[in-house]
Amino acid sequence: MDKKGFIFDLDGVIVDTAKYHYLAWKNLADELGISFTEEDNERFKGVSRKRCLEILLDMGGVTVSQEQFDAWLLEKNEDYLQYIRKMDASEILPDVPKILDYLQAQKVPMALGSASKNAKPILEKVGLSGYFHAVVDGHETTRAKPDPQVFLLAAERLEVEPKACVVFEDALAGIAAARAAGMYSVGIGDPGVLTDAHRVFRNFTEIQLEFIEGLLQGRA
Ligand code: BG6
Ligand code: MG
Repeated sequence: MDKKGFIFDLDGVIVDTAKYHYLAWKNLADELGISFTEEDNERFKGVSRKRCLEILLDMGGVTVSQEQFDAWLLEKNEDYLQYIRKMDASEILPDVPKILDYLQAQKVPMALGSASKNAKPILEKVGLSGYFHAVVDGHETTRAKPDPQVFLLAAERLEVEPKACVVFEDALAGIAAARAAGMYSVGIGDPGVLTDAHRVFRNFTEIQLEFIEGLLQGRA
């Protein structure tokens, strides 16, 4: 049996920061007079900060100088940081520690694979850094999800074959990235949205340890 590796996205999988990204983009969109709904926000999930702003400006039909673009990127992030400054372990999504503890007890190598440049400080704030053998974040990747780069790099760091990796993702772009990497994908969210995932659960409380055990034994 191949040695398995588990790779977790951060925002919207481990912690509920997807709502803060949304609020910060919404604030900027309001300021620019661009309509921005939670439905629009689905396209922003898993996508780099820069790409999100490009999409937002496209939605509003706005073209701007590089300088203005960079200023808005900074403004969105500073707004986002106001939300995450107050974060603590209470914002870890329900039953995530149960799964992480189980995998740790089985000595399964685990990595974080996130598009966010804020991933490391967030992990520290919520006290989960110790679980991960590798953290690949937005500082290390040059190609955003749905490109598989982030997950392939995580597998390399774990010294696990991509085909023996399992990815937990809440974003359409992230599921596509996992698939492109040749990995098994577990969607966390709406089954009607994450249709390309191998399996979908609304949240971690729906995941039984038997399912994880099955993945470890290659029974998925
Ligand atoms: C992803 C989020 O994890 O990180 C995206 O799903 C976000 O919504 C991206 O745009 C980049 O995050 P950050 O923290 O670098 O702006
Ligand atoms: Mg996510």
